[in-house]
Amino acid sequence: MNDAPIGIFDSGVGGLTVARAVSQQLPRESILYIGDTARSPYGPKPIADVRKYALEVLDTLVEQGVKMLVIACNTASAAMLRDARERYDVPVVEVIGPAVRTAMSTTRNGRIGVIGTVGTIGSRAYQDMLEVNERLTVFAEACPRFVEFVEAGVTDSPDVLATAERYLAPLRHAGVDTLVLGCTHYPFLEGAISYVMGSEVSLVSSDSETAKDVYRQLVSRDLLATPDAVPTARYEATGSSADDFLRLAHRLMGREVREVQLVQTGAIDLPR
Ligand code: DGL
Repeated sequence: MNDAPIGIFDSGVGGLTVARAVSQQLPRESILYIGDTARSPYGPKPIADVRKYALEVLDTLVEQGVKMLVIACNTASAAMLRDARERYDVPVVEVIGPAVRTAMSTTRNGRIGVIGTVGTIGSRAYQDMLEVNERLTVFAEACPRFVEFVEAGVTDSPDVLATAERYLAPLRHAGVDTLVLGCTHYPFLEGAISYVMGSEVSLVSSDSETAKDVYRQLVSRDLLATPDAVPTARYEATGSSADDFLRLAHRLMGREVREVQLVQTGAIDLPR
């Protein structure tokens, strides 16, 4: 069991940021990644649909024998957090809790901003978790065009900056001192976001925070790979084009993803 892979899931390619952070912190661990490219983007879709897609992909990872599930997608985490923990025997790590905990310990003035897809912000998953602490005030903004920019490989154009100015203006005016980047794609826009928000605002990125949670959970459950483990990395996508996945993966992450297998997830019926 200990040398089984960690299953990492995202709506597409963006979750590779989480896979990379996990591999950097845990180089002996094997990784099985599925990007649901056939149905991405999840951000604009109804939350009930996202939940169904996400459970289908997670079922597929569990059938392949992973020892842990990592939901790298913020929109999917927002849609089916509790369901996943109840449904699977293996531990489930998602991206919202780790980022929330870091934001709570980072803020000095108690004013926290959260940005994400329309689905993530509309679900109020971040807001509800942060507002458990009554001393915090949360300001949330959906930034749908950010994903489009990153997928097009555009991270430093004047258009990105102008859009960031527009989306982030309410958060600047609200005086947040901590901003959660609640989407897989936003770390690629950290330059523009930090420039607009100002260097005194701390940015909390879910990829590295989630990798720390994976580390913590593996150690505490005695699930770390054995000392002689030979790590493997397998990447799967549900879409029809391996080339599209690889092209975007290379643009975002460099050449470390060499090959992708096209797979289908099993359909499940869920009551709505
Ligand atoms: N992975 C999604 C997220 O983190 C962004 C891309 C999408 O909309 O599918 O919310």
